[in-house]
Amino acid sequence: MSALKLTGIVKRYGAQAVVDGLDLSIGAGEFVSLLGPSGCGKTTLLRIIAGLTPCDAGRVTVGDVDMTALPAHRRNIGVVFQSYALFPHLTVGENIAFGLKARGTPKAEIAAGVAQALKSVQLSALADRPISALSGGQQQRVAVARAIATRPRLILLDEPLSALDRKLRETMQIELRQMLRDAGMTAIFVTHDQDEALVMSDRIAVMNRGAIEQFDVPERIYARPRTQFTLNFVGLSSQVQGRIERRTADSLSVRTAHGMVMAPVPADMPGEAPDFTVGAEVLLGIRPEMIATSAAPDAPAANDSVNRIALRVGETVYRGSNRLVYFDAPSAPGIGPLMAELPAHAGTAPRNGDTMTLSWPVRDTLVFPLETAA
Ligand SMILES: Nc1ncnc2c1ncn2[C@@H]1O[C@H](COP(=O)(O)OP(=O)(O)O)[C@@H](O)[C@H]1O
Ligand SMILES: [Mg+2]
Repeated sequence: MSALKLTGIVKRYGAQAVVDGLDLSIGAGEFVSLLGPSGCGKTTLLRIIAGLTPCDAGRVTVGDVDMTALPAHRRNIGVVFQSYALFPHLTVGENIAFGLKARGTPKAEIAAGVAQALKSVQLSALADRPISALSGGQQQRVAVARAIATRPRLILLDEPLSALDRKLRETMQIELRQMLRDAGMTAIFVTHDQDEALVMSDRIAVMNRGAIEQFDVPERIYARPRTQFTLNFVGLSSQVQGRIERRTADSLSVRTAHGMVMAPVPADMPGEAPDFTVGAEVLLGIRPEMIATSAAPDAPAANDSVNRIALRVGETVYRGSNRLVYFDAPSAPGIGPLMAELPAHAGTAPRNGDTMTLSWPVRDTLVFPLETAA
């Protein structure tokens, strides 16, 4: 049984379907991120789950209870908004007690509930402080404590860290995940920040135009994106167009402006089975850290398991722990620069104009049907 199950959710504003037949099922205790660009429908979906916005079609099931028709206050779902929405004239403790009071909890139980929630966000010492005396990070934790104080079945968080500066945000990402895990919460965490989603999530639901593009563990979202949208939205990649010239049981030979590149035959692609037959146009994607480089002359030839091409170094970009090298691409349509990620503090930095051999495993070459611009 899923902790939360969404089936065929549709929400229209005028002619626009902001949520467009969306399905999602998450397990008890899971921390799931909803990752997508601004305007793709994340907040709308969260509000539908919470019961704050009615949907036009579909079902929201929590545990084995169909909640679709229930008002927000009867769903027992905790929500943390981007703005925290704390009561500035109340103390930390009073803010956390608010939800418990509203549902008529006996006084002694309120005190115990508040103490427990404060403890789980490590703010016990600040119970009597006014909200206005807290830092941004502390306010964020009060908002979480308030949401978990009523022991909800599910907690929804809408970009709760976006107001914090980078350093604090990175600390809070780890702390927040730990707090929710310790409290045994099932959580849906909305973000438009791919790094945040990769760091925090048990699974990531990549959302685009009101639908889920891919729902998977972070490692697979990054290393095995199933659509061009996910490839582009999460991480960097070199991208090269080509045409399939040969196909065997498990490999494709793709003619590109860089010569022949081999790729695996993709398994179970979404949507109508894409056309990976001879003659089909495809897009190849390669993550920069999959590409190894060497001085050109002694490089062995490409084979069935390794792609190799020789290219000239264009730009190099120093990034602290690594260096990103951009190689000159032939000027042909659909060819982006190839990028390799090299360690920044080993060996010498490649120089502009050097020729190097790039090699990467055939199995790490990603293949997508070529999308014609919509
Ligand atoms: N109450 C509303 N009335 C009309 N359009 C809305 C309303 N709420 C959201 N939208 C539209 O729905 C789309 C998705 O919005 P939203 O769910 O806030 O996206 P996200 O949280 O992913 O940025 C946007 O185009 C937005 O303008
Ligand atoms: Mg939003």
